[in-house]
Amino acid sequence: MNAQDIRNKYLEFFAAHGHRVIPRAPLVLQNDPTTLFTGSGMQQLMPYLLGETHPQGVRLVDSQPSFRAQDIEEVGDNRHTTFFEMLGNWSLGDYFKAEQLPWMFEFMIDVVGLDINKFYVTCFIGDEANGIPKDTDSGEIWKKLYASKSVEAGEVEVGSEADGYQVGTPAGKRIFYYDASKNWWCRGGKIADMPVGEPGGPDSEMFYRFDDRPHTEAEKKQYGELCHPNCDCGQFMEIGNNVFMEYVRREAGFEKLPAQNVDQGAGLERIAAAALDDPDVFKISLLWPIVEKLQQISGKSYESHTNSMRVIGDHLRGATFLAVDGVVPSNKEQGYVMRRLLRRAIRFAFDLGVEQNFLEQVVPVIADLYQADYPEIAENRDTIIQTLVKEEKAFRQTLRKGVKEEEKLKLLDGAELFKLYDTYGFPVELSVEEGFKLGIPVAENWREEFDAKMKEQRERSQTAAKGVFKGGLGGQTEQHKKYHTATHLMYQSLRTVLGDHVIQHGSNITEERLRFDFDHPEKMTPEQIKQVEDMVNEQIDADLKVSFAEYPTKVAREEMGALGAFGDRYGDTVKVYKMIADGADKPFSFEICGGPHVDHTGQLAQPAAGTDKLKRFKILKEESSSAGIRRIKAVLQ
Ligand code: ALA
Repeated sequence: MNAQDIRNKYLEFFAAHGHRVIPRAPLVLQNDPTTLFTGSGMQQLMPYLLGETHPQGVRLVDSQPSFRAQDIEEVGDNRHTTFFEMLGNWSLGDYFKAEQLPWMFEFMIDVVGLDINKFYVTCFIGDEANGIPKDTDSGEIWKKLYASKSVEAGEVEVGSEADGYQVGTPAGKRIFYYDASKNWWCRGGKIADMPVGEPGGPDSEMFYRFDDRPHTEAEKKQYGELCHPNCDCGQFMEIGNNVFMEYVRREAGFEKLPAQNVDQGAGLERIAAAALDDPDVFKISLLWPIVEKLQQISGKSYESHTNSMRVIGDHLRGATFLAVDGVVPSNKEQGYVMRRLLRRAIRFAFDLGVEQNFLEQVVPVIADLYQADYPEIAENRDTIIQTLVKEEKAFRQTLRKGVKEEEKLKLLDGAELFKLYDTYGFPVELSVEEGFKLGIPVAENWREEFDAKMKEQRERSQTAAKGVFKGGLGGQTEQHKKYHTATHLMYQSLRTVLGDHVIQHGSNITEERLRFDFDHPEKMTPEQIKQVEDMVNEQIDADLKVSFAEYPTKVAREEMGALGAFGDRYGDTVKVYKMIADGADKPFSFEICGGPHVDHTGQLAQPAAGTDKLKRFKILKEESSSAGIRRIKAVLQ
């Protein structure tokens, strides 16, 4: 079964078990300041895992294109990719372990056809300090499933890293219990770092064992004496994760959520590699054609240029999907990551001897691989290809300028080499080579100095990435809800003041402010800004009641006139939020939205702790975001 078949079979399998196939989220989530990119399937489902009602029901399934920028530098080994698809299924307070584990077992073993003798699982050993028991239920279920195939499946308590994981993989043992460092899942990863309000739970992971041999001496030094499912030596690979999301962190400790949820996420690329029984994910049907194209363009083989071809293949696939979801290369946020991907891909192509434009040949191969399953690619194919090709041309010009700069230098030391790298994207080896050609002396310690500068930069960007993540973990706080509600009031006010051409293009909410992009051809006048502020404050003072109901999408949009966001994709039914004054017959705002919101708009005026001064809605900034699109930043202060 190839990767495309596995994706389709998974959706079919869970649909047959009563799941609705929901549209994937875009790679850049609106209204989620927690991360730059969608990095897992559950991200768009956060409010529902916390207890909101999902319009499509309590059993959901999808394949979620995901992007993890933090893995850029890891790419090059046989399993890391920045972009991947996560096959996800969810129970929102419906079924639990007794259904989930048998279904995943059936899917992996009977549907995909993985060799059961290479299939291993892990479970949660419990956490006394936090009052969370050992997950023996999952262990018992797995044991029965193995027994149904006549495979012996003993249990092993591996425990924590502090114990050194040194129990190995004894014969006949299949079910491995680890502590929270491995078998607890929450956003952010660590049980100890979970903020109040954050949900999480024990998980049970599934592994495929590609190889079964003792560690080499070098591996013993790096990974420990004995191999086990969570060992990173490469013999085992995680292929899926069943999270039993039933806890939430409160001030006093962990509490059960109102409902027991299942959040399952499985890497499509990894399952496909297991199906081929080859640990190199680049050999699967969604990546290998890209490698083949690179071999053809360069005349080099994958065997001799493995690392470079993996980096180029991964990065171009990632950049293509970012383009699909509307990201364009720039020096900020998502655009910066996309630019970095493209520059790295182009630089690594030098290693293949490819110094001329080549994206025009590779990007169509990627589009071909995905467009049957992601129609948005077919629809925007030319634009996507042009976006990448244009960036490549611009970058090659920058590279040429870099050569001119280099020619002027008297000495090439680490600092100058770093500058050439950082400003012009110049591969360092290339600069050194060019320096020799030009007769410019090269400092003896250039490598150390350059590496130190690189390390500094990496630390800077990691700190920045962490900041983005941490800043947003309060995604569901009261402050957040207030800004969410204020955004609806402002959207309607803008339409009343400026006209019905005002359509939302994007919105981003933090604890401190709201940001909102919308169509409008010119700068707003100070009078218009004041009118909008006054109108929002009037609605706050009128203490409108906020409620929601679900409707078929077509009815909500076309018959009831609910507002939506431009470019958003909706399922068959949607949740519509209504904000209405007591006794009024028409709501002030009627808008499609996932929530969450406050219950009454009066809550937006609530004074800060320790004061009695009511808050007011204020527009701090109104500026151009791009052609024909304005951007507002506003606060409650
Ligand atoms: N949300 C879980 C994960 O990302 C399934 O592993």
